[in-house]
Amino acid sequence: MEFKSHWLDKSYAEVVEHILENYHEKLSNQMKDLSKLTTTIMKVHGLEHEELFEVHRLFNMIQINMVQHIIRQESRIFPLIKRYSRKPIEELLDKAINEINIFRSKEDNTMELLEKLISITDGYTTPRDGCATYARAYELLKDFHINIISHLQFEEEILFNRLIKEKE
Ligand SMILES: [Fe+2]
Repeated sequence: MEFKSHWLDKSYAEVVEHILENYHEKLSNQMKDLSKLTTTIMKVHGLEHEELFEVHRLFNMIQINMVQHIIRQESRIFPLIKRYSRKPIEELLDKAINEINIFRSKEDNTMELLEKLISITDGYTTPRDGCATYARAYELLKDFHINIISHLQFEEEILFNRLIKEKE
């Protein structure tokens, strides 16, 4: 996925705002809904569809990763980047990059878990005997998957790599 180059003309503070509004908030809402939906369909259809236990487990593991992702970025990385955006001095840039490097070094199996999720649900395809809630859950899981991928790419390409390049 390619992001429009106009992002490169925006300030770091504006890029951070965009991430908060368009990715983090959306992700938190999706997780709230999916926590309920994946539990409901497991209870209702778990007898005919044993894979729903795995769907529930995988979703919750991804959720733990994404909650930590959001908190680490919002409590450590973004405040430093915003400070650097207001006051572009070397010291703040170094601190922000250091936080980005710590963030990147954390073990995170989200992509692997998403691959398992897409495979076990046959690309988020609702089975013939699935009800409307089942379909809603799978549709939302698909959106959740897409949102995570574009979100991670956007942060890497538009925010982190741009900051790191300033040091080169
Ligand atoms: Fe993020």
